[in-house]
Amino acid sequence: MEHKWMNMRFIALAVSSAFLAIVLPLKIVFDDFHTLWVDVCIWIVSAVFAADMFFSIRRRKVRGQRVMTQYVKMWLVIDAISIIPVAVFLPHSPLQLIQLLKVIHITSFLQEYTRRKPRNAAFLRLGQFGYIILVAIHWIACAWMSIRPENRADDITRYIKSLYWATTTVATVGYGDITPNTNNEMIFAIGVMLFGVVMYGYLIGNIASLLNNMDPARVHHQENLDRVHAFMRYRNIPHELEQKINEYFNYIWEKRLSYDESSVMAMLPAGLKTEVSLYLKREVIERVSMFRNASDEFIKDIAAHIHPSIVLPGEFVFKAGETARSMYFISRGVVQVISTDNETIATLSDGDFFGEMALLHKRKRNASVRASDFTDLYVLDVATFERIVEEHPDFKLQLEETAEQRSK
Ligand code: CMP
Repeated sequence: MEHKWMNMRFIALAVSSAFLAIVLPLKIVFDDFHTLWVDVCIWIVSAVFAADMFFSIRRRKVRGQRVMTQYVKMWLVIDAISIIPVAVFLPHSPLQLIQLLKVIHITSFLQEYTRRKPRNAAFLRLGQFGYIILVAIHWIACAWMSIRPENRADDITRYIKSLYWATTTVATVGYGDITPNTNNEMIFAIGVMLFGVVMYGYLIGNIASLLNNMDPARVHHQENLDRVHAFMRYRNIPHELEQKINEYFNYIWEKRLSYDESSVMAMLPAGLKTEVSLYLKREVIERVSMFRNASDEFIKDIAAHIHPSIVLPGEFVFKAGETARSMYFISRGVVQVISTDNETIATLSDGDFFGEMALLHKRKRNASVRASDFTDLYVLDVATFERIVEEHPDFKLQLEETAEQRSK
């Protein structure tokens, strides 16, 4: 409900303020805009602003005295002034622009809106920049018309000519086909050129960083890739190894494993961390048969302590005789269990687990495990294994039963 209300408020305020920003300067310059319809629209905008003020006050009242005082100090005057449809009463006066004060409050609302909906933030900011450029050029065009009256052309031609002058002067320094003649015109042109330079620099910098941040996951992945490639060139890594590294990076990108989960998780409070872990590890939790009937408490405990790992095709997870430091759950992929005689004893895939025997019996690995394909594993380290086995005897029992079957 809150989101729906925010969306509606955002659309109503955006349309209303865009209408005012476009029509008010035109109203000052052209008599054609003094019509009943334009006045009706201005009244509607005032009604939208009044309704917004009313709901803002009501929402803040509910939130407490402190929030209300803050509103009264910061926004009450601006909101109250912007309700008055000055343009209807003083159609030629620049004083009517005072209604646009509301834009200041809308900007602050936009910031709150993007904070609550960060997914749309980049698009909204890009839209905001586009809007600022267009409105700025429109205003400059209207101001140019008011200081350079030209009676020969009709209104539309005058406006288009001024718009053309404003655009060329802001974007470049003009083509020189429309030149300022009077002192006022020259001073105004200087101002517009300076404004163009500053706006250009500011916008180009912001838009570049915005475009860059539109897909932060891709940027992060590309940065890692560039770093690794620079390193490989620097250390003359052989071509075959480079190929393998490239395949690995392609795989983690395709499987969306490129982000370092732990750094993101570290920012979250415990409750949310558990929820996110359960969501991220839902595949392995659904696939491993012994997790299916397990208690919620056990699942949460396991989800919080297993961490992802990827093994490339042909790579060993561990070799027979090694000291055991973890057990593994297969989320996706295929591994072969290879005996000390170099024979394949078993092939394990999605939902299977391995590496439990050495941990249970506190001995070395009795076989090697090698991936036959890209394999996504979840790793449970020995310390957590020992704690979980102690706290959840059912889990221990199931592991022991499987280990016994496997030893036969
Ligand atoms: P561990 O001894 O820790 O390391 C090798 C692992 O291979 C072992 O634990 C089991 O998880 C797994 N393993 C050994 N023998 C078999 C088998 N017959 N079938 C399936 N998995 C096995």
